[in-house]
Amino acid sequence: MKETTLVLLKPDAVQRKLSGEIILRFDQKDLQIIGLKMLRLSKDQAEKHYAEHCGKPFFPRLVEFITSGPLIAIAVQGDNAVQIVRRMMGSTDPAVAHPGTIRGDYALTMERNVIHASDSLESAARELRLFFLEHELFGIDGGI
Ligand code: CMP
Repeated sequence: MKETTLVLLKPDAVQRKLSGEIILRFDQKDLQIIGLKMLRLSKDQAEKHYAEHCGKPFFPRLVEFITSGPLIAIAVQGDNAVQIVRRMMGSTDPAVAHPGTIRGDYALTMERNVIHASDSLESAARELRLFFLEHELFGIDGGI
């Protein structure tokens, strides 16, 4: 089933100039990029995006890091895109992420783990709405 998921290339990825290499992986997988923008999140936007983690010990540092510089938000579309992108991304903890995954190849710590991707279709729909307006998405059938 065709799905659309949200990917964030976090401030560490942008700063380390990894964006091109990561985007190339999605292109080579034959996923479709249907929306893309660079932006710096406000504290309020970051807290909304990561609302499910509110109250956890790492939450303040997560918000601080994700707002520390520009990130790149990408809407990625394709068959089973949610699960496929999660598998390409690798485990949250780079120490256990397999080589060949994005985190396995480029990250060392959970805090600076280079990339975020929606964990379910429901999260994807919610997160895409936080980052993209309808007319900023160019899906095969229009929009998401
Ligand atoms: P992400 O996939 O963006 O979703 C939530 C983020 O919180 C996660 O990547 C990590 O960057 C961060 N995170 C999750 N668990 C921890 C943890 N135990 N310690 C520090 N950061 C964490």
